[in-house]
Amino acid sequence: MDDVVERVLITKAELDRQVEELGSRISRDYEGEELVIIGVLKGGFIFLADLARKISIPVDLDFISVSSYGDSSKSSGVVKIIKDVDINISGKHVLIVEDIIDTGLTLNHLVELLKTRGPLSVEICAALDKPSRRKAEVQVKYKGIEIPDEFVIGYGLDYAGKYRNIPEVCILKKEIYQK
Ligand code: PRP
Ligand code: MN
Ligand code: MG
Repeated sequence: MDDVVERVLITKAELDRQVEELGSRISRDYEGEELVIIGVLKGGFIFLADLARKISIPVDLDFISVSSYGDSSKSSGVVKIIKDVDINISGKHVLIVEDIIDTGLTLNHLVELLKTRGPLSVEICAALDKPSRRKAEVQVKYKGIEIPDEFVIGYGLDYAGKYRNIPEVCILKKEIYQK
């Protein structure tokens, strides 16, 4: 996939180290509690798969599928729930797992939505953070790696649906999304 990758921004080793650290923090913080981890599809699936295996306490796992970007590279600001969670989160601690926080619109909307269902708490864990693009405020308890305002792909992140399966976080060549 060298034809679309400008350069690697975050290596697999750096991601692994970050995931390990977040996994142990989460395991410590929720020890003895009822925790439901909600992965945000599609982008969150790779990070969640890695993170879940670095969490050493029993947890319930579920997924919610939302989309705000569609096929374009810009957020439309409209968050669409494509598949909701199946688990009842009332009286439980919830941890939302995302690949990236960009404008914050997706997570801001999700947190508000899940809070209406009576959970004990709702926190966020995100692999990547692009703070320069924030439009909506979000409190992120478990923050991974801060990145500059570049179009990134890989580690779950797509461009027009593709390249989620690249193991590293890579910068997409400008000519790909500008044409
Ligand atoms: C991407 C990404 C986050 C969200 C972040 O998802 O995976 O979920 O956008 O952007 P925001 O902070 O500006 O809301 P996308 O809507 O592209 O769907 P996908 O995960 O299926 O690719
Ligand atoms: Mn997403
Ligand atoms: Mg996307």
